[in-house]
Amino acid sequence: MRYWLLVHLLWMVQLGCAKCCKMDHLLGPDVFSYKHFYMNESNNALGYCERRKITSLDFWSLSSVIFLDTFPIDPIQENYVRRVRRCIFSAVYPTPFHSRVQLVAVSQDVLENILDLDSSVAETGDFLQIVSGGRIVPGSLPLAHRYGGHQFGIWAGQLGDGRAHLIGAYTNRYGDRWELQLKGSGKTPYSRDGDGRAVLRSSIREFLCSEAMYYLGIPTSRAASLVVSDDGVWRDQFYNGNLNKERGAVVLRVAKSWFRIGSLEELAFSQELDLLRKLLDFVIQEYFPLVDASSSYRYLDFFSRVVSQTANLMSLWISVGFAHGVCNTDNFSLLSITIDYGPFGFMESYDPNFVPNTSDDEGRYKIGNQASIGMFNLNKLLQALSPLLSPREKHLALKILEGYPDLYYNRFAELFRVKLGFLGESEDDGLLITLFLKLMEDTKADFTMTFRQLSEITQDQLADNNIPQEFWALRDVAVHTSFSDWVVLYLLRLQKNTSDSDTKRRQRMTRVNPRYVLRNWMAESAIRKAEMNDFTEVRLLQQVLQKPFQMQAKAEEAGYSLRPPSWAKNLKVSCSS
Ligand SMILES: *[C@@H]1O[C@H](CO)[C@@H](O)[C@H](O)[C@H]1NC(C)=O
Ligand SMILES: *[C@@H]1O[C@H](CO)[C@@H](O)[C@H](O)[C@H]1NC(C)=O
Ligand SMILES: *[C@@H]1O[C@H](CO)[C@@H](O)[C@H](O)[C@H]1NC(C)=O
Ligand SMILES: *[C@@H]1O[C@H](CO)[C@@H](O)[C@H](O)[C@H]1NC(C)=O
Repeated sequence: MRYWLLVHLLWMVQLGCAKCCKMDHLLGPDVFSYKHFYMNESNNALGYCERRKITSLDFWSLSSVIFLDTFPIDPIQENYVRRVRRCIFSAVYPTPFHSRVQLVAVSQDVLENILDLDSSVAETGDFLQIVSGGRIVPGSLPLAHRYGGHQFGIWAGQLGDGRAHLIGAYTNRYGDRWELQLKGSGKTPYSRDGDGRAVLRSSIREFLCSEAMYYLGIPTSRAASLVVSDDGVWRDQFYNGNLNKERGAVVLRVAKSWFRIGSLEELAFSQELDLLRKLLDFVIQEYFPLVDASSSYRYLDFFSRVVSQTANLMSLWISVGFAHGVCNTDNFSLLSITIDYGPFGFMESYDPNFVPNTSDDEGRYKIGNQASIGMFNLNKLLQALSPLLSPREKHLALKILEGYPDLYYNRFAELFRVKLGFLGESEDDGLLITLFLKLMEDTKADFTMTFRQLSEITQDQLADNNIPQEFWALRDVAVHTSFSDWVVLYLLRLQKNTSDSDTKRRQRMTRVNPRYVLRNWMAESAIRKAEMNDFTEVRLLQQVLQKPFQMQAKAEEAGYSLRPPSWAKNLKVSCSS
C-alpha cells in the first residue's frame, strides 16, 4: 500500500470517520474511484501516530469525506452554469492553466503550522501543480459551494463559488481541521458570466491582506500560497470599456470553514428546510462547541453567539482602520472571520466616510457604516433561521439582535481604551476617545500613525507640546485648537493609575497600535513590480506585515511608516478582480 493512503486513513481515524459510508448520493466513475479511501474500515485499527513536518507531497493528502458524508452533492457532474437545487456542493474540478506557472509567495507559517508541510516542499513542481489546480491531491474531491446572498441590500439569488474550489479538509498534528480553497481556479456551475479566473493584482492584495490581518490579531482566512500563470485573462480594470490582458493567478486560501450567512439564506429562500436544518446543525456541532447541540434552544444560542462575534469583528476592523468594501451577506462568514478580500482598504486620513470601493457612490459600505451593515446582515441571518424557530424563539432572537449595538459599542470602547493606553475603565473614557477621533477627523490625520506615534511619544514631550519632527501624524493633529485641552485630559486620565509608568504605557500601546498596515500605495507598488515578474516587494511586504507592531529597518527604508508618497494621492483601486 502506498504510504499516502496509509496517512490518509490515519486521518480518518482522527476524524472518527469509521461510520462514514453513506455515499450513495454520489454516483459516477470518477467519484466512485475515491470510495475505497473512505470505506476501508479495516485500516482504522492502525491507530494514531505522531506526524512531523512532511517533506514530500507524496506523503500528504486531503480529505473531502466530511463534506461528502454529511451533505448531498449536486447529482449533475457536468460543469456548466445552472441553477442548482437540493445540495450544498457541486463536485467540479479546477481548470489547469495551459502555460508556465510561477510561485509568487508562500506563507511559511501556514505551510508549517497549519498544513504540517516543511516549507521546502514549496520549491517542488508538485506543489506548483497542486496549488494552481493542475493536480488533485489524493483524498480530494474538489467542490464548489452553493450559496446565495444579499448584495448591496438586495436579495441576489444563487451566487456560489464561481471561481473557487474547496479542495478538501486537512486535519493537522494538533487535531485542528482546516478547509483548503483555491481561488481563481476556473469555472464552476456558479460562475454566472465570469471566467472563473482571478488576476494577479487582486490575488496579491488578498494574499498580503489576509496574512497581514492575521498578524494584526484579527480573525481571518489565511493564505498559503500565491501563483501566477502566463494564461491571459481579460479585464476592464477601471470599468471604462478598455479590456486589458492580464495574467491568471491562484491563491490557496485556508479557513476553519467557508460557510457564510448566504449559505443558509440560499436554503431558506428555496424552501429546502431539511437541508437548512442539516447545514445549521453541522455548523453548530463543528464550530460552536459551546452550544449544547442537544438543546432545543440551540439555534437561538447559535444566533446569539454569531451576533456577539460579528460585533467583535466589526469593532476589530475599525480598530485598525480596515474597510472590507463589500459587506454582502455572501461575504460574511458564519464564524465571523474576515473572508473575501475584494476592494478593501486601510483608512489613511481618519474619515468615517472612507469608502474603499471607488464605484460605491452611495457609500453603503463606508467604514463608518460597517457596524450597522453588520446588524443588517445579522437580520438577514435571522430571516434565514426563522423557518426553524418557534414564534417565541423568533421573539427572543429579535431581542438578542437588539443587543447588538451595545455589544458593538462596548467592544469598540474597550479596544480604543487599550489603543489609548488606559488601564481599566473610567467614566470619561468614551469622551476622550470620541474627542480624539474628532480631532483626527478635523485635521485629516493619518489613523494608523497618529495612534502609533501617540504610543511612542513620552508624556513629558506631550505635556510640553514638544512633538518631534518625525512624528508627522501626531503633529498634524496637534495643529487643532483643541489638541492641548485634550492632552491635559489625557494625561490626567493616565495619572489615575498611580502604579503605572510611562514606559509601561508606551510598551502596552506599541503592542496594539501597528506601525505598518497594508496601505494601498504599498500594495500598488508591489503589484507594479510583480506584473514584471519581480516578486521581491510582495515578499518584503509579507515579511514586514508579519511583525506590524515592531519597528523594522527594511520597512523604514522602504518608507512604510512615512506619509504616503505623492504619486499615490489619487490612486484608484479597481474592483474588477
Ligand atoms: C482495505 O485495506 C486492506 C489493508 O490495508 C487491503 O488489503 C484491502 O484491499 C483494502 N480494501 C479495500 C476495499 O480497499
Ligand atoms: C463579495 O461581494 C462582491 C460584490 O458583491 C462579489 O463581487 C464577490 O464575488 C463576493 N465575494 C465572494 C467570494 O462571494
Ligand atoms: C462597488 O460598488 C458598486 C456600486 O454600489 C457595485 O456595483 C460594485 O459591485 C462594487 N464593487 C465590488 C467589487 O463589489
Ligand atoms: C486604573 O484607573 C482606572 C480608573 O480610575 C481604574 O478603574 C482601574 O482599576 C485602574 N487600574 C489599575 C491597574 O490601576
